[in-house]
Amino acid sequence: MRAMIQETQLSVADLIQPLFVTDGDAPPEPIASMPGMYRYAIGDLVDACRRLAADGILAVALFPRIDARHKDADGGFATDPDNILYRAIRAVKEALPELLVITDVALDPYTSHGHDGVLGADGATVDNDATVARLAELAVAEATAGADWVAPSDMMDGRIGAIRQALDAAGFPDTGVLAYAAKFASAYYGPFRDAVGSLEAAGHTALDKRTYQLNPANRREALLDALLDETEGADLLMVKPAGPYLDVLRELRQATRLPLAAYQVSGEYAQIHAAAERGWLDLEAVRDESLLGIKRAGADLIFTYFAGALAATLSR
Ligand code: PBG
Repeated sequence: MRAMIQETQLSVADLIQPLFVTDGDAPPEPIASMPGMYRYAIGDLVDACRRLAADGILAVALFPRIDARHKDADGGFATDPDNILYRAIRAVKEALPELLVITDVALDPYTSHGHDGVLGADGATVDNDATVARLAELAVAEATAGADWVAPSDMMDGRIGAIRQALDAAGFPDTGVLAYAAKFASAYYGPFRDAVGSLEAAGHTALDKRTYQLNPANRREALLDALLDETEGADLLMVKPAGPYLDVLRELRQATRLPLAAYQVSGEYAQIHAAAERGWLDLEAVRDESLLGIKRAGADLIFTYFAGALAATLSR
């Protein structure tokens, strides 16, 4: 009876698994702060995708870890067609054409300072407009490699419109734009920055992205910013992180008719694992409750590092 009147269900079709890919052919390298997550060489990445698809996962989000020797202040390697991201997209799409591939549009894996864009004349602050031009090129390069949705995660102003225009002009009218529409300058990204090496690039100083990411205190500004992305042509909107921003998710759900995604980020994942390791929380129960809460608040889709594990449970 309870099952019949349950209002919200977790479905494998809602889950997007973020995956990290790295150069070379070393065995999968575990990411210490994200138990169960690895940096994969391309062959292992394709195998991981195959397992996810077999459990019913429909979409993956790929993040490259770029070798430090390819990083520079301008992130020039971002549009090198032979960099690991493009090779990974091509390999996954070739092996699993039906698996939806989502890629991040941001320069942080490629910049020596770890910021999502290029810096302005002061050498410290990201130059919004110069960055937007680079992001549009990056999005086209990702679409060219076969990405189904490009996901600008940088939070520059005006980038959604510029990316949509660039994709259309380059002959990719069907490539979707999933906008990280309300992305906060959050302390929960730590393990991810470790995984892609952007923190290491920044020299272990706190990477301060407050000139482009949202102030965690601001809900109204988050809605304003998210709805601008809709006006500029986004196909889906995302709120990130998820758990601490359920109010934003809820309000955005009421303000837009676009599909909504939420990103349960690396720090949210790490917290649950850390407490479970100590025996303080039940891993699977808290995992499911955290995701149910995100869904109940209004997310249609959830980026979560738990996607594969949950899919395996659901398909049992
Ligand atoms: C960077 C990017 C970040 C994440 C996804 N893309 C980190 C950041 O903005 O510094 C975070 C994901 C996570 O923490 O799981 N463009």
